[in-house]
Amino acid sequence: MTSADFRFIRELAYRQTGIVLPERKQHMVYSRLCRRLRALKLTTFKEYCQYLLDTPDELGQFINALTTNLTSFFREKHHFDYLKNTLVSSWQQQQKRRIRIWSSACSTGEEPYSMAMSVASLFGNASCDTKILATDLDTNVLQKAQSGVYPIEALENIPNEYQEKFLMRSGSQIKIKDKLQQHIHFKQLNLLNDWPMQGKFDVIFCRNVLIYFDNDTKTQIIRKFRRLLADDGLLFIGHSETLHQISDDFSLIGQTIYKPI
Ligand SMILES: C[S@@+](CC[C@H](N)C(=O)[O-])C[C@H]1O[C@@H](n2cnc3c(N)ncnc32)[C@H](O)[C@@H]1O
Repeated sequence: MTSADFRFIRELAYRQTGIVLPERKQHMVYSRLCRRLRALKLTTFKEYCQYLLDTPDELGQFINALTTNLTSFFREKHHFDYLKNTLVSSWQQQQKRRIRIWSSACSTGEEPYSMAMSVASLFGNASCDTKILATDLDTNVLQKAQSGVYPIEALENIPNEYQEKFLMRSGSQIKIKDKLQQHIHFKQLNLLNDWPMQGKFDVIFCRNVLIYFDNDTKTQIIRKFRRLLADDGLLFIGHSETLHQISDDFSLIGQTIYKPI
């Protein structure tokens, strides 16, 4: 991969996804895209860059190859404890009739399923219409998320109280039961583009994705979250992320939990 190839790739990735790829990530980019070269039987990155220019359909595969999808059930567990112990109980007390939750970089689905388990006491309650929207840019991870199938090792992170209730075991795999899955709607959405949603959300999770963006992109996205968040809603971001110097529209109320000002 020449520096010209890397420059082309990082600029295309930035324009399409907002993801910043510094020089130090060149090796990672190389190994992730090598698989595409092999699949397409191309021998040089120069050919691959030309292929990207000539074949707009390759863009999706290019993006899927470059995203980092690391996630797990109940990752940063304090957020799910807060959801269950603080938010759900206050919604129940207020007799709230409509709850909208958004997992905005849901990867392979562990995050929205963990949210769903945490708020499950609201499901099936005829007077409270509860929905979780789960979106990501990467179409491969969305397919996995939609299948609801995970290796059995994933159980290590799922509290016992939820295992019987929401999961089925089959050999070396677990599957999310339909009664949980039916409350989650998976859709492809690029945080960089226009968003079709109009209604207000009570909770937005945008965790461990802002780290890949520069400050301008973060600022724009956070501004858009503010518009879509209810005045009494909350925004949850990842453990190494902050809104400091990114947005004045929010104040910190817990560990990487923000409320609109
Ligand atoms: C590291 S994962 C985080 C998953 C989950 N939120 C968590 O914290 O465990 C980051 C996800 O952000 C997605 N992503 C990257 N750029 C994006 C963009 N512009 N729009 C939407 N999703 C994006 C990636 O595809 C990836 O699945």
